[in-house]
Amino acid sequence: VKDPRAAYSYRHPGSGEWAHPLHAGPLADAASTYVLPALEILAPRFARAAAPNCRALVIGFGRGFEAAALLRALGSAQPLPHLALTGLEPHPEWLEPWPPRWPGLSAEEAPWWGCGAGRWSGPGWEVEVVAESAATWLARAPTRRVDLILMDLFSPAHAPEDWEPGLFPGLARVAAPGAVLTTYTCARRVREGLAAAGWNVQILRGGGARDTLRASWSEQAPP
Ligand SMILES: C[S@@+](CC[C@H](N)C(=O)[O-])C[C@H]1O[C@@H](n2cnc3c(N)ncnc32)[C@H](O)[C@@H]1O
Repeated sequence: VKDPRAAYSYRHPGSGEWAHPLHAGPLADAASTYVLPALEILAPRFARAAAPNCRALVIGFGRGFEAAALLRALGSAQPLPHLALTGLEPHPEWLEPWPPRWPGLSAEEAPWWGCGAGRWSGPGWEVEVVAESAATWLARAPTRRVDLILMDLFSPAHAPEDWEPGLFPGLARVAAPGAVLTTYTCARRVREGLAAAGWNVQILRGGGARDTLRASWSEQAPP
């Protein structure tokens, strides 16, 4: 029996781990596991007219489901914050071959479908996907600028090498005051790595199909 994920997902070439969970549509999972838990905290800030911009980072961009779910969620926000999103995907070859466009996406969504890297924009948003690893990008990016980090690396148990030594210090380096990070893995290594770098780590259980690790960066968080 063919795995239904073959219609949109792909596997780690070393461990064989699937990039997406089995029992949830990829866009619904991206919304419930990453985007909505982060917006619970950030939405009031984006709603303030004086600070409507959002700089977001997706680590492990892959097919871009977190980015699509974020654009969908922000598209219904009033006022609409301007979104500048960077996606990091160091292995575009792992995404090959791209399957036909996932039918849960409308024709306007995810214009990056089928592309490994590039830039796209629409009303109120820009997305750039860069073929760089997280540690490399985080070490050269401007400090204290990223408001929202959606982190979707393969699991630390099966792909420990993807969790580079510079990752946790790098995340702290780029986080803007009040930044929020979400990820699906609540593994001890991730909880402890983030906490040691200064993040306030929380585990949210039960809401969607998966638990969410949500971390907040304070450092004079906006009121
Ligand atoms: C679980 S998949 C992500 C699925 C993706 N979010 C989507 O919407 O399809 C993990 C991704 O992380 C990427 N990756 C591996 N090592 C990385 C690193 N050091 N930094 C950033 N991304 C990495 C892999 O190439 C892979 O595409």
